Amino acid sequence: MPEIIVEGGHRLRGELHIQGSKNAVLPILAASVLPEGETVLTHVPVIGDVAVSLEILSALGVSVSLADGRLTLCADSLCGDEVPRELGARMRSSVLFLGSLLGRRQKVRAAFPGGCAIGSRPVGLHLSVLRQLGAEISSGGNGLCGRVGRFTGGVVALPFPSVGATEQALLAAASAAGDTVIRGAAREPEVQILCDFLGACGAKIRGQGTAEIRVMPAPLHGCHFEIPGDRIAAGTYLAAAAATAGDVTVRGIPPEHLKSSLAVFRLLGCRVDEGEDWVRLVREGMLRPVPRLETGPYPGFPTDMQPLILPLLALASGESRLRENLFENRLGLAGELNRLGADIRVCDRLAVIHGVRSFTGSSVAASDLRGGAGLLVAALAARGVSRITGRRYIERGYEEPERNLTALGAAIRLIG
Ligand code: UD1
Repeated sequence: MPEIIVEGGHRLRGELHIQGSKNAVLPILAASVLPEGETVLTHVPVIGDVAVSLEILSALGVSVSLADGRLTLCADSLCGDEVPRELGARMRSSVLFLGSLLGRRQKVRAAFPGGCAIGSRPVGLHLSVLRQLGAEISSGGNGLCGRVGRFTGGVVALPFPSVGATEQALLAAASAAGDTVIRGAAREPEVQILCDFLGACGAKIRGQGTAEIRVMPAPLHGCHFEIPGDRIAAGTYLAAAAATAGDVTVRGIPPEHLKSSLAVFRLLGCRVDEGEDWVRLVREGMLRPVPRLETGPYPGFPTDMQPLILPLLALASGESRLRENLFENRLGLAGELNRLGADIRVCDRLAVIHGVRSFTGSSVAASDLRGGAGLLVAALAARGVSRITGRRYIERGYEEPERNLTALGAAIRLIG
């Protein structure tokens, strides 16, 4: 079974150029069936979820070629309208092919999307935005099935700023007959990046980064687009520096994308310096507890960073409380952290954490992407050797984590 073996206790020091953003590239790959002609994406992260997306695109008849992070795509020969079940069921973001394939082919079939087991992850908001734009969608034992003459455009109202449902609305709106206004839109950087991509393909979009986005469709053409740095990967390496009393600089990431996470690192007692596209974190003394912290939609503290901060709170000198407001099972790694010596009690969505002086190496199991990365952060800080199973979860979203961490001074190897 593929495992990660970590000998903890080494201080991480050095600099790292951050990989392209997973959560930005996945909706862009779903969008890539829309433009005519060739699209070239650069700084594409070589990660598991991208590999699955490329398999889906190939199965649909899109030509795909990836070398050194440069991905060339052309959907002129697209012929399918079904997301292969086995592939769709492996990844949450496969649901985004609903909007783009309906736009391009006027019909679509797909399995219910899969992805990390961090909560129930319903798709009701996705189906609602597609229906608001004129599609007929049925869902049942055979999965999801949709049909549309042409998306109409109009007003789409979201009762909650879901990242995925906002992206779904953008994909559908980009091929609609008229303008679309998305009210209650998510403001995450990845939504803005999708708008930038669609803009580079010819769509006119206003209001990205606010709760109201207007899409004025136009014929879409291929483009060259660079995938920006991954804010959560950047936050992960900063958390690893904080866990090991290290000194790490991450480059290729605008600090404003990490604002609320940087505020948390400062509350934990770390020194954080920032420049135009870099962040440096230095930890010298003990980590300090954070009495009250909760996750929320952007610009709030991101749920994806929660499992990376949890091990730090578990090493802080006092009691912290952390509430997970987005995904009900996302505190699942607390039990595994307790195997390493942490003292975390979880009641419903609240974790009460009593800081301990150190962790001790042990065998732990990753069961989702960010939770797995949180275990890696904890193992780097632990005395002795840890074995982490479930490596494939971590590889869904991190490009060569062992190489990056080794370059920073970690003692880590992969087996199996
Ligand atoms: C995206 C990210 C994920 C991140 C999350 C929140 C990708 C591939 N994934 O996931 O890493 O943790 O944003 O920042 O970009 N909801 C519904 N019905 C729906 C859709 C969502 O009730 O149809 C609820 C979810 O259960 C959750 C909340 O809305 O409680 C937020 O989910 P959403 O913002 O949609 O997250 P994702 O797009 O799935």
